[in-house]
Amino acid sequence: MDAVRGQYEAYPYPTRDPSDERRRLLFGFLDLLPLLNHNCFGGRRDFREPFRVLVAGGGTGDSTIFLAEQLAGTDAEVVHLDLSGASIAIAKERARVRGLDRIRWVNRSLLDLGELGFGKFDYINCGGVLHHLDDPGAGLASLVGSLADDGAMGLMLYGAHGRTAITQVRDLLGLVDGESTDLAARIETAKAVLQTLPDTNWFSLTPGLVNDGTHDDAGIVDMFLHARERTYTVPEVYELVADAGLELVAFTEDRHLYSPELYFRNRDQRDRDLARRVASQPLAVRQAIGELLTSQALKHTFHCSRRRGCTAKLDDESMVPFLWSKKTHLEASAELSTEGRTAFGSEQAKLHIGRTDFNASIFELMDGRRTVREILDGVLEKTGAGADRRPEVFAQLSKIQSLLAYSNEMLLRHESLPLFPTGSELQARAETRMGRS
Ligand SMILES: C[S@@+](CC[C@H](N)C(=O)[O-])C[C@H]1O[C@@H](n2cnc3c(N)ncnc32)[C@H](O)[C@@H]1O
Repeated sequence: MDAVRGQYEAYPYPTRDPSDERRRLLFGFLDLLPLLNHNCFGGRRDFREPFRVLVAGGGTGDSTIFLAEQLAGTDAEVVHLDLSGASIAIAKERARVRGLDRIRWVNRSLLDLGELGFGKFDYINCGGVLHHLDDPGAGLASLVGSLADDGAMGLMLYGAHGRTAITQVRDLLGLVDGESTDLAARIETAKAVLQTLPDTNWFSLTPGLVNDGTHDDAGIVDMFLHARERTYTVPEVYELVADAGLELVAFTEDRHLYSPELYFRNRDQRDRDLARRVASQPLAVRQAIGELLTSQALKHTFHCSRRRGCTAKLDDESMVPFLWSKKTHLEASAELSTEGRTAFGSEQAKLHIGRTDFNASIFELMDGRRTVREILDGVLEKTGAGADRRPEVFAQLSKIQSLLAYSNEMLLRHESLPLFPTGSELQARAETRMGRS
């Protein structure tokens, strides 16, 4: 542990400039409260009620700042714990700039949680930490010991197959560096090796995969020279989580990488047989197939919980479906009406929706305020369809939800909860606060 602590004292990671807080809020699906609520709290968690958050191995503060920003103005408690005092100092300064003054800072190991007497947490974030422990299972058990019975966890672990290029450079540097423990000298060697890599090297072949590793010294250390790390395949992630008594609820980032069905074509019988064979496998196997098929899951980022079936359900008609997307519901509706199609998702995984009898009207009514019940009834009224077609309207809403689940662009919250602010609304609110302070 001393080697890991020493590394992060000298090279806090990721590198962050606290003054950047004045102009932007960093965003991640893992800690996005509307998604956490949808995935792990049945869409019913009221964050205005007391909510306790632990960010374990919080580093320079990305998750802590994002969570505390979303919870600003509530009674929530946010605890940021890390081995590295230098990392905590950066996170603390970021919070100070933002005027987030209710965060508790703890310079300890997550393995000490049992003796710290913090009580139970409703949400524990631990991103990019467990795979650096001597015994990740013991680390996860320590976190689970501090998790409320109905609590949720957000974890990130390195992906084994997706990091092939990185692992090879790491092994290469290990051979070149021999016994050297001088990190500053090893960084210089790493830079020399990186600019020497032939075009045939796996890392040169996959530059697009590795976007944040080589910009600065801390990134080089974290990516290639870490004192200790291991990686996980999807089946190994499931095993780690199950051994801790948890359920893996959902991958949160790059969900298309775990969804082989998105990559299958429908050209001939052989394609269709393949798609059918894969579709008949259990979800965890399909996700493992996706990991191997796409080779791009550098990080496995996911929610887990002790509870099965904690995800919000569309067949509860008191749920409010809402888009969490750059595209508004009215834009989607207009595109369906005029062009007969609309698309969501990302460049890597476009999600196309063709016009059906009801989906333009469904999008039109999906304003983030109407419940499922109001949308179903509203669509029948708007289109003049008989009540006997209500199940069809529901099936089409359900189809939209299944498709947009690949990109987290449609979520559910209970009608008793207020709207969630968007990222730009959160930053605007913070800028008002910063202007005042
Ligand atoms: C790769 S950084 C990730 C930081 C942050 N979670 C993020 O995603 O930006 C790993 C962090 O875990 C911390 N860490 C490693 N082992 C730890 C332990 N046993 N207890 C607490 N923190 C630990 C390190 O000090 C470092 O700040």
